Amino acid sequence: MIYETAPAKINLTLDTLYKRDDGYHEVEMIMTTVDLNDRLSFEKREDGEIVIDVEHNFVPSDHRNLAYKAAKLMKDKYNIKDGVTISLEKSIPISAGLAGGSSDAAATFRGLNKLWGINDSLEALSDLSAEIGSDISFCIYGKTALCRGRGEQLTHLPKPPSAWVIIAKPDIGVSTPEIYGALTLEKTSKVLTKECQQALIDGDYERLCKSLGNSLESVTMGLYPEVEKLKNTMTNTGVDAALMSGSGPTVYGFVQKERQAKQVYNALKGCCKDVFIVRLLG
Ligand code: C5P
Repeated sequence: MIYETAPAKINLTLDTLYKRDDGYHEVEMIMTTVDLNDRLSFEKREDGEIVIDVEHNFVPSDHRNLAYKAAKLMKDKYNIKDGVTISLEKSIPISAGLAGGSSDAAATFRGLNKLWGINDSLEALSDLSAEIGSDISFCIYGKTALCRGRGEQLTHLPKPPSAWVIIAKPDIGVSTPEIYGALTLEKTSKVLTKECQQALIDGDYERLCKSLGNSLESVTMGLYPEVEKLKNTMTNTGVDAALMSGSGPTVYGFVQKERQAKQVYNALKGCCKDVFIVRLLG
């Protein structure tokens, strides 16, 4: 049996540059990971089948699950005869902007690389994974990175200075294609990815807080006003910075003291079901 953890990601920045001929958006974004983890285990099957064992009302256990797609791609690419039972324990909220599904898929690439004795490099897995989703390449490493292209071209960066992160998701799910579909590039606000990169290199917490930005934030807020309301509530608790992650609807905030994190948590617990206090993993 092989075990893997699949951490959630947050966007420190997300800048949409232009729409490409293949329908994707060229992006420039800095992502990092937090210690909010799904847990996966992998057990070999002699019958060659891929079986996903998951108890969650909104997570499919068939070919629609990204972990299934990852296993199928590995099996075909490396010509593997064995099958696998993948047990998936979800903690990361779904359709949240936290890359839960992508992180599960990345953990599947890493887990099967061991279980099936493939032993390919993380770089090769990262390249392969881009065939089934833009954020999986980042999740293969789970380390702070500047991500370009449609998200799959990585330049690793120093991990952020230590902070407590409060993560809150309104009780709605948001579809990434819906948000990208509603994006008007001319209306997006300026995102300070270079500034954020420098803050990470310098280990400068205050500068990092000032450089957070996401050009999808106003799009999601336009469609789902509860996201703006949540961000305002979080900002009013006195967090050092707050931002929506990915295409949303999750909003996160940074503070430096555990006591402050608990205060923010208590203030938000009344307005959404999913609230977590986590640490940056980076
Ligand atoms: O790659 P992934 O399957 O996660 O992307 C889901 C959808 O999000 C794409 O089909 C596309 O509509 C949108 N997307 C985009 N530009 C990106 C990443 C995703 O337009 N860089």
